[in-house]
Amino acid sequence: MIDTQTFTVSDFLKAFDAPASDAEMIAQEIEKYDFRYRRLNAKERAGVIEGVLGRMSGFTEVGAHRQGIWESCWTDASAAYEAGDGKASTLDPSFMGATPVLRLGSDYAKPQLPDFETHWFRIIRHWLFTRYLSEAKRVFEFGCGSGFNLDCLARMYPEKVLTGLDWSNAAVDLVDRIAADHGHKLHGEHFDFFDPNPDLELGTGSVAMTFAALEQTGKNFKTFAEWLLACKPDLVVSMEPVLEFYDAECEFDRLAIRYHNVRKYLNGYYSWLREQEKQNRVKILKAHRCRFGSLYHEGYSLLIWKPLV
Ligand SMILES: C[S@@+](CC[C@H](N)C(=O)[O-])C[C@H]1O[C@@H](n2cnc3c(N)ncnc32)[C@H](O)[C@@H]1O
Repeated sequence: MIDTQTFTVSDFLKAFDAPASDAEMIAQEIEKYDFRYRRLNAKERAGVIEGVLGRMSGFTEVGAHRQGIWESCWTDASAAYEAGDGKASTLDPSFMGATPVLRLGSDYAKPQLPDFETHWFRIIRHWLFTRYLSEAKRVFEFGCGSGFNLDCLARMYPEKVLTGLDWSNAAVDLVDRIAADHGHKLHGEHFDFFDPNPDLELGTGSVAMTFAALEQTGKNFKTFAEWLLACKPDLVVSMEPVLEFYDAECEFDRLAIRYHNVRKYLNGYYSWLREQEKQNRVKILKAHRCRFGSLYHEGYSLLIWKPLV
């Protein structure tokens, strides 16, 4: 018999590597949700691993060829937003919370409720926005998808000027629609990581962020990263899967490494940042593995840095 546990305030503080002084803010947020889960028994765990290995060769690769897939994903999301009368939760991406078993801490976990992942993400997003974005005047989210992060940010800080950028026109239109519906200071703009707009200005007072978006560029992240560095935002907040954080000696991590490599997700961004730091081009403020993810990998790792040049 395996006991049900609850992911507590101190678990969240540890997962985010947050100071104890953030406990009250997190406590207020987690009150809204049910974070009960249980570990798997040995038979279930073996079955989960077998299932992951069995599906491994069937996963598609990310990259430049997938623009059409994202276009249809955000076209469907617009329809769901429309059908849901513009309710904020209709913007939650369908890939979040899609697996019934999660990576939590150093092992798999079965949440009591299917929304565990989405709600866990809401807690870290609230914490990140409060801790790192409160001073920003302008915020740019690159690869913003449905715009659900920007909608949340606009509700927390209505005075900030927000831009949602994506290579999908459906995503850009959806962001504009959300802004119009709710009176947010927000607009959408077309943007391609592989061919960044040279006329876009960020600069003093701005924060750039990516959530599970730069992952899509694989090894080809440098065009964007160099461009972003030259744009000199005050801060860059990236929540992405970070290959360098896994431990190849550990079986649990090796499964995530394999999945990450099969999908050709972001590869080398953290190493590149460390190289730039050695050359005094950036300062890395936070590089942290939160040890949370879907069944397959951990997409919620944090790299927070600022340009120095
Ligand atoms: C996994 S989704 C994440 C979306 C959103 N940030 C979120 O957390 O739900 C990846 C996003 O990156 C966008 N994307 C992928 N490749 C891109 C590229 N080359 N340029 C701009 N956006 C891109 C996709 O259209 C999609 O919106």
